[in-house]
Amino acid sequence: MNEERWAFVDQYLCRALLPIDPALEAALTANAAEGLPTIDVSPAQGKLLHLIALIQGARRILEIGTLGGYSTIWLARTLPADGILVTLEAEEKHARVARKNIERAGLSHAVQILVGKALERLPEVKRKYPEPFDLIFIDADKPNTPEYFGWALRLSRPGTVIVADNVVRKGEVANPSSTDANVQGMRRFIELLAKETRVTATALQTVGTKGYDGFVIARVSSNP
Ligand code: SAH
Ligand code: DHB
Ligand code: MG
Repeated sequence: MNEERWAFVDQYLCRALLPIDPALEAALTANAAEGLPTIDVSPAQGKLLHLIALIQGARRILEIGTLGGYSTIWLARTLPADGILVTLEAEEKHARVARKNIERAGLSHAVQILVGKALERLPEVKRKYPEPFDLIFIDADKPNTPEYFGWALRLSRPGTVIVADNVVRKGEVANPSSTDANVQGMRRFIELLAKETRVTATALQTVGTKGYDGFVIARVSSNP
């Protein structure tokens, strides 16, 4: 079992289950042309986010970490006519590429991109969007994931689903002596989650075209 095999099977499954999608393909092409890092969720993971949003019946989605808007498009497509998705991105260039990709996907009416460091913009999100979010996807700088989780709780209601990406980091999450700030952030997040009585949560390892990583999925159970 190796990464090549995971990628091969992922490609097989995606060919079978994910029809060719011009808007998503165009987004990845534009990201590459602009030199954005290829750290978007994989197609199968994007569709998983899409399915979670559909199952949840999400009308209000918050995303932390936009990059070129690949995951944003998967999520925003599930929204009803009056639905909104707010997405936070620190890099002006990423936001500019995302804005175009989202426009090409016909989703500009539903998506609001806020540019700036997420921890600086989140208080404003709380003021501007006082109604709780139904789904929150955390996928920005990994060391701040515990802080983003705190904000996710503040912006949620009982029933809100919180998903966080990149929690496994090639298995390093289980290494207590890791000196990597990303890994340490995720370990802090897992410990916080373990103590948090207001959510029901699990974590799942993932393999495929984006290597070996994982998601946390949590549901807010009592009033934050
Ligand atoms: N969700 C995207 C991938 C996001 S990659 C997808 O799957 O398609 C992580 C993004 O978080 C990068 O674009 C990076 O610029 C952004 N980021 C890093 N630090 C940040 C911060 N402090 N606040 C907001 N965004 C940040
Ligand atoms: C990396 C991967 C991601 O999915 C992400 O959101 C940020 C960084 C990485 O592999 O460095
Ligand atoms: Mg990610």
